[in-house]
Amino acid sequence: MKKAIVVGGSNGIGLAIAKKLIDSNRHVIILDVCSPAEKILDGKSYNYIKTDLTSFDNDLFENFSSDEEIDTLFITAGIGRICNFDNLSLTEIEKLFKINSVSAIKILKIFYERIKNTKSFYTGIIGSIAGLVSSPMFSVYSATKASICRFVESVNIELEANGYDNRILNVSPGSIKGTRFNGGENDLTLTDKLSDEIVSRLYKGETLFIPDYDEVYKGVIERYRQNARQFGLDSYEYKQKSGRISDKSPIVIGYLSGTFDLFHIGHLNLIRRAKAECDYLIVGVHPDASHKGKTTIIPFEERMEIVGACKYVDKVVMSFREDSDAWDEHHFNKLFVGSDYKGTERFLRYEEYFKDKNVEIVYFSYTKGISSTQIRETLAKK
Ligand code: CTP
Repeated sequence: MKKAIVVGGSNGIGLAIAKKLIDSNRHVIILDVCSPAEKILDGKSYNYIKTDLTSFDNDLFENFSSDEEIDTLFITAGIGRICNFDNLSLTEIEKLFKINSVSAIKILKIFYERIKNTKSFYTGIIGSIAGLVSSPMFSVYSATKASICRFVESVNIELEANGYDNRILNVSPGSIKGTRFNGGENDLTLTDKLSDEIVSRLYKGETLFIPDYDEVYKGVIERYRQNARQFGLDSYEYKQKSGRISDKSPIVIGYLSGTFDLFHIGHLNLIRRAKAECDYLIVGVHPDASHKGKTTIIPFEERMEIVGACKYVDKVVMSFREDSDAWDEHHFNKLFVGSDYKGTERFLRYEEYFKDKNVEIVYFSYTKGISSTQIRETLAKK
């Protein structure tokens, strides 16, 4: 049986496309951060693999690229919110580029041998009108989508010039009704016709599809070409009045603290799991272990350096005596800790303290069989 991959197929237009691909007798593999809404797709016709494009998994895509049964790849994953550039943090900018642009191009690179093959291989990606014209109040989103539009356009020429038959379809819509993008809900009745058209153009080998082009977007693109500045000012005003401005950052900041003496796998497991549940991880290192009545072997500065060099850690700081005090400084949304702390006086106190502060305390299972104390004891015995 033929198979198709839909990256970002759990919601919106991705979900609708996944459904059409199932209707075309393909088994669909959905790669997304969350699973598809229940009962929308027949459970036997797809499988879902949790995939976070902010921590790109080369091996996952490499393995799929060598699966000959897969003949279709559609990338629909994308994030964005309407707000002034002022309002975006460095972390959000990086996240936008990672998901919308860098990961998508990496996936296409991994599948490029398949695209260059003489056998038909169908590839599509969701660009955006915002990638074809300027989009004030959507500046970085627009930049990520512009990179996709220019990339696909360029590579399609390379494919043609080198005599290959397969192409990549860039679907660049304006706003789509029936998706969760910008606060809506999944409604397949609203995305049905569009997804039908997208899939039919995909299998015809087209390179650019702008939905509603003649009725709406021809005018938009023409106005932009005639007077980009005036177009931009009008677009700015339109967004101001749209009621769709979102000043709330979706970035999740995580915090955890520890002594991290004789850095071991238990520490690494905790830090790795924590990073998988936030966008920006701050780790507080205790200057010493006197609060536990213990001594440390590795000096504080070196423990800071070791923890800070770990690829999952975005920022390392000296811890506060209490994690509740660290919140005043770092305003984290999630506090991580090993399950050995669950039910302790300290964490019961934090659970109370963070109740009304929109901070979730996440306990990860303690890695059994290892601790700094244990290593210290083993060393002492020897
Ligand atoms: N941790 C863990 N699994 C381990 C050891 C530690 O999940 N095997 C977690 C702890 O729950 C804590 C964090 O790592 O949230 C930092 O703990 P730290 O006190 O530095 O590590 P320990 O090895 O437990 O240190 P010690 O033996 O000195 O108490």
